[in-house]
Amino acid sequence: MSVTETYPIRVELTKESKLSQVDFNDLKFGKILADHMLVAEYEDGVWTDVKIVPYGDLTISPSMSALHYGQAIFEGIKAYKFADGTVSIFRPEKNFERFNLSAQRLEMPAVPEEIFMGGLKKLLSIDSEWVPSVEGAALYIRPFMFATEAALGVHPSISYKFVIITGPVGAYYNKPLRLKVETHYTRAAQGGVGFSKNAGNYALSLYPTRIANDEGFDQLIWTDAKEHKYIEEAGTANLIFRIGDTIITPDGETILHGVTRRSIIELANKWGYKAEQRTVSVQELIDGIKAGEVSEAFAAGTAATLTPISVIGFEGQTYELPPVEGREFSTKVLTYLNDLRYGRVADELGWNT
Ligand code: COI
Repeated sequence: MSVTETYPIRVELTKESKLSQVDFNDLKFGKILADHMLVAEYEDGVWTDVKIVPYGDLTISPSMSALHYGQAIFEGIKAYKFADGTVSIFRPEKNFERFNLSAQRLEMPAVPEEIFMGGLKKLLSIDSEWVPSVEGAALYIRPFMFATEAALGVHPSISYKFVIITGPVGAYYNKPLRLKVETHYTRAAQGGVGFSKNAGNYALSLYPTRIANDEGFDQLIWTDAKEHKYIEEAGTANLIFRIGDTIITPDGETILHGVTRRSIIELANKWGYKAEQRTVSVQELIDGIKAGEVSEAFAAGTAATLTPISVIGFEGQTYELPPVEGREFSTKVLTYLNDLRYGRVADELGWNT
């Protein structure tokens, strides 16, 4: 069944495109939004009123439950432009799957594939001119859903809005990262919502991150809630290390299972590297750095792509990692992913949509 048959999408085009005002050679992350957005409503148990309209403000009630109780989830996806003008979205079906896992954990309705994927493709076909062709730039896609019921009782909302906005972006981080191992504050606990991409996971990170910023770090390395001994993720991205001959990424239910992280581990396996998703203790990492066995470390995410880590701070000490230039695996991955995303190599793995 086609998208238009099940969920007809009404389209209202902007009368005043902002495209000519954009400097595609000077893109900050998340500051510029494209001309159109997709909006769908969930009411009385069904998705309805799917539309693509000019980007603009939404009307909400002050008692809307997302504002009070945090029923709000989102995704991050990127689209790239090939030299021949083809627009390609990187593995959006993985984000669609994760979005509905987040929805389930926050007791929100699933968004149908026809609205998420079909709506996304239609939105991009309308705003295809907004996809940058500059190397290193992409169209960032932000699907999100929030509870709209005007009610102050704590219960699952009876109504929701699903929205997709997009905007051209450059690098999220423009230099190698200094990360502090957080041993007091907690991002997520067993049985909690760490694996889901919900707004609260980011709100709770702001205060500890600001403390780390004041100490000269860019971001945190979150550790487990119980003992603060095991590495989880960086909040804005997952973490990947090369220790000895092995590519290792921390695993578990408290971390977000990133599409970029998964893609990199899949590449490592395909290329014959030894790759492991497993528990990684802070001690293993620090001992490895001291012994000169940690040859590579990086943050991996849609926004972050692959950002090298230069320094790790732990218990008042800082530990330097080897120079970025000599990092064989990171360089190989980044080169391959860029070539794939900009259409310069054959898409053998079917990652481009
Ligand atoms: C992404 O990588 O898409 C994210 O959602 C991270 C965000 C905090 C910028």
